[in-house]
Amino acid sequence: MKVEKLDHYGRGIVKQSGKIGFIENALEFEDIDIEIFKDYNKYFEGKSKKIKNKNINRIKPKCQYYDICGGCHLLHMNDFYQTKFKEEKIKNIVLRYLNSNIKINELIKDNNFYYRNKIVLHIKNNKIGFYQNKTKNLVTINSCLIANKKINELITFLAKIEDFEEIEKITIKVGNLTNEVMLILEGKLKNYLKYMEFCDVLVINNKVMTDKKYISSYIGNKKYFISKDSFFQINYVVATKMYNQIRYYISKLKSKNVLDLYCGTGTIGIYIADLVNKVLGIEIVEDAVKDAKLNKEHNNINNISFLLGKVEDKIECIKHDYDTIIVDPPRSGLNKKIIPILRKIKPKNIIYVSCDPITLMRDLNFLIPDYNIEELTPYDMFPNTYHLECLCLLTRKTKY
Ligand SMILES: C[S@@+](CC[C@H](N)C(=O)[O-])C[C@H]1O[C@@H](n2cnc3c(N)ncnc32)[C@H](O)[C@@H]1O
Repeated sequence: MKVEKLDHYGRGIVKQSGKIGFIENALEFEDIDIEIFKDYNKYFEGKSKKIKNKNINRIKPKCQYYDICGGCHLLHMNDFYQTKFKEEKIKNIVLRYLNSNIKINELIKDNNFYYRNKIVLHIKNNKIGFYQNKTKNLVTINSCLIANKKINELITFLAKIEDFEEIEKITIKVGNLTNEVMLILEGKLKNYLKYMEFCDVLVINNKVMTDKKYISSYIGNKKYFISKDSFFQINYVVATKMYNQIRYYISKLKSKNVLDLYCGTGTIGIYIADLVNKVLGIEIVEDAVKDAKLNKEHNNINNISFLLGKVEDKIECIKHDYDTIIVDPPRSGLNKKIIPILRKIKPKNIIYVSCDPITLMRDLNFLIPDYNIEELTPYDMFPNTYHLECLCLLTRKTKY
């Protein structure tokens, strides 16, 4: 079959007897033999078995687990082609889902490897590894090319453990620049002392076992404390680039009062607080709000405060003197209760940070009647995977 183009997940699209197929490890214009692993009424999914006339941008994946793991969807593309894929992906999504033409900047990126500061490992039959993509089959590993060097050291340690007792899952979080380690173990175990040796914070089934509850981490020159349940950006270099661009927007817009919605540990608000009069962050996770308060103190910031709760519940009750609203929701995008409120309170500027371009488009369509979309910048926060982070600046139309 001939691969016509790529879908948003980096799979090759082929057609056979009127049916469309989505094929892993297949690049544009290649002729491939395929193995079908799911056949539905209207489409099928599969994997390339044999490739003739390979695309010149195809490379041998650097990872020994590429064929079985499935976590990195794009390792068979060279860097040039990954960038092209992501830039075309966002352009196509905008063209298809957004009812407006907008300026899309080039992809901002950094190193494709050793970037993740957090991974989740599983254990089965005393072996440690990742769950294979879309299954619960264990792929035993000794290293991971997208996890940072400290995490790789820890994987080597963990892979040598002979008896995991009944641990089922291990989450590793590492602080940017500090290399402090948090290990979160889930399952049954009695002898946990051996894990204390190689971490700063040990959590077992939600209970912190160490005196220390937090690891510290950096974005740019700001230091943040992160506890077990708090979200933290996983790619230090690219997150810092994106936060610097948010700082640039805040100064250019001369923002005074800023709402930081879905604020996590207060990271973005704290990063820009010195440029404005006041910031208010709203976040649903209790641990994250506690961290945010600590981070505020630690960074000597006096003009930021935080509210614990759902954005959709809290936003209505606050005084609306905010000229700029930053939103950084989970993949599901903005809760549908929020959009009408945003349109009612009409902040001058909205800075939208998104980890799902499709829900971003849905939300932008609701805002277009009142806002100009000044520009959208894609960030390669998750290299070698199809995921894409976007930063979007919206300014209120002059009719107001
Ligand atoms: C993508 S993270 C962004 C965090 C932060 N802005 C950062 O850059 O580190 C999304 C955050 O939204 C929080 N969240 C999810 N649903 C929420 C809701 N309905 N109301 C408030 N916060 C929510 C999550 O707990 C998470 O901390």
